[in-house]
Amino acid sequence: MELQNIRNFSIIAHIDHGKSTLADRMLEMTGTVEHRKMKEQLLDSMDLERERGITIKMQPVRIAYKEGDSLYELNLIDTPGHIDFAYEVSRSLKAVEGAVLLVDATQGVQAQTISVLGMAEELGLTIIPAVNKVDLAVARVEETKVEIVELIGCKYEDICEVSGKTGQGVDELLKMIVRKVPPPKAHSDTGKGSRALVFDYAYSNHKGLIFYLRVVDGRIRLKDNLFLHAAKEKFSALEIGIFAPEMKPTGELCVGEIGYIVSGVKKLGTTTVGDTVTSEKDSLPPLPGYRSVMPVVWASLYPESQDDFTTLKQALDRLKLQDASLSFEEETSPTLGRGFRCGFLGMLHLEIISERLRREFNLELIVAMPTVSYEVETHKGKEIIYSAALFPDDGTMKGVSEPWVLATVITPPEHLGSVMQLCYEHEAEVGDTVAFGKDRMSVSLLMPLRELMRNFFDKLKSASSGFASLSYELGGLRKADVVRMDVLVADEPVTAFARVISRKRVDEEAQALVESLQKHLPRTQFAYKIQAKALGRIVASRSVSALRKDVTGYLYGGDITRKKKLLEKQKKGKKKMQERGKVNIPQQVFLKVMRGSE
Ligand code: GTP
Repeated sequence: MELQNIRNFSIIAHIDHGKSTLADRMLEMTGTVEHRKMKEQLLDSMDLERERGITIKMQPVRIAYKEGDSLYELNLIDTPGHIDFAYEVSRSLKAVEGAVLLVDATQGVQAQTISVLGMAEELGLTIIPAVNKVDLAVARVEETKVEIVELIGCKYEDICEVSGKTGQGVDELLKMIVRKVPPPKAHSDTGKGSRALVFDYAYSNHKGLIFYLRVVDGRIRLKDNLFLHAAKEKFSALEIGIFAPEMKPTGELCVGEIGYIVSGVKKLGTTTVGDTVTSEKDSLPPLPGYRSVMPVVWASLYPESQDDFTTLKQALDRLKLQDASLSFEEETSPTLGRGFRCGFLGMLHLEIISERLRREFNLELIVAMPTVSYEVETHKGKEIIYSAALFPDDGTMKGVSEPWVLATVITPPEHLGSVMQLCYEHEAEVGDTVAFGKDRMSVSLLMPLRELMRNFFDKLKSASSGFASLSYELGGLRKADVVRMDVLVADEPVTAFARVISRKRVDEEAQALVESLQKHLPRTQFAYKIQAKALGRIVASRSVSALRKDVTGYLYGGDITRKKKLLEKQKKGKKKMQERGKVNIPQQVFLKVMRGSE
């Protein structure tokens, strides 16, 4: 296809503003997917995505679009909306020239709309503004358009009005994309060699690594000898094709196009997204690639049975291929054995990864309480602590620093009071509060990341009847007044439940945690205690009563000595179990407690 007739674009929006549904309509109306094969959110191919109604992975697709006598090739990359998956968005934006900024007309501009727009503007992409869900009676189309004008300074009449549900306005939007998004250009002006940016990977057992890439120079053909720069790996293209939306071989990919290459490379772990593929012989220099991301939340994952350690390692290697933002490193715990300390971009990311490990790899896991990283200063010097269980005892440290975030909350003014109250409860420093659009307020905040992780997002939603939205980015480090809280179950410390909490809230959090554990931990043959310990003392305690088993029930009258004998045997059994300790804690309990049971 002529460069002039290619358009590469992404759809960006706040979560649930309707990206995937709009992409469905584009695929359907252009005949990319036959009507009978159409299903909702077609590009969300993972079971977990469809079940939860969220996009986790970006997904490229090629659309053939006819306008008048001209045929255009549109390459769309659908992106996730949740803040935890922002790295997927930033990567896909590097592979395109334009972005449709989609805003739900019932919600208006929300915090994430602004942050994804920021990413697109930084890359100099052409922005096509569109208001979605105009079919709904409660849609505030005009107000939303006014907000968009204020946000990007475009003309009111240039904003498309669409409904991803009914298809209204989608053709006009496609026309606008063809008219406004510039066609791709070759990056190198020498005209020699070919070069492509790898923006994602997949792995298949028989095909090996499959690169998702955008060709920026030249042309890549079947059987070409290629070179992967950062990995320093030579390979040849075993299959080349496009996403239609399933993989469809085409034999070649030309400059400006988005598609895939099957490499046959089976070595995992050496490759990274953002790598450059070039033709081996007249190799061009590598492209700038991607900024690597910093994990925000840390949690340790241990296999419930140590026999599964190798499976867990292989599973993490596999997931890392699809999810470049996941990082992990081996660690050993005296009570839980060998496992991995993993870095995530947020709590949802952690939850999704543990769920995928369970479903796709059949692994039962112990998930230690997530924590942020603390910079701890002791007499030995400064050290970064990523695990609550390793946080030093109070009194042994000279100082602790913790990461803060810069957050923006957008809320209707009537909920401002309860939002402010919540900010106060989460140790936030409230900065500027400015009126935004017709009837919205934008609040800037600085708060400890630790507090953001204490379910701030869910609480914000309930404090504002679902209307407030949040976006944040990492700020610097600040001094923290925090202590470690340990949890003892049946007098044994359970490392996975240890957490670092604010000194001010020791009592409150200890109570909440033991209460929640009392609710979720299984009852056993013997009674046991659940205790929270901090600052060198037991702060909260609850007991779980024993399951009563009537071992003498079947005896019918008669000899008292037999009854005594049986009771004696039961007592011994219980004692043995108690000595062996360990209440068997199922994986679900770790996940429930991690999700924030407060
Ligand atoms: P994430 O990828 O998770 O951010 O979501 P998304 O932006 O892809 O949103 P999605 O397409 O999953 O739509 C969210 C919800 O809005 C779904 O329940 C859709 O059915 C609904 N929806 C999307 N577009 C429209 C529309 O134009 N009109 C109406 N009435 N509902 C819509």
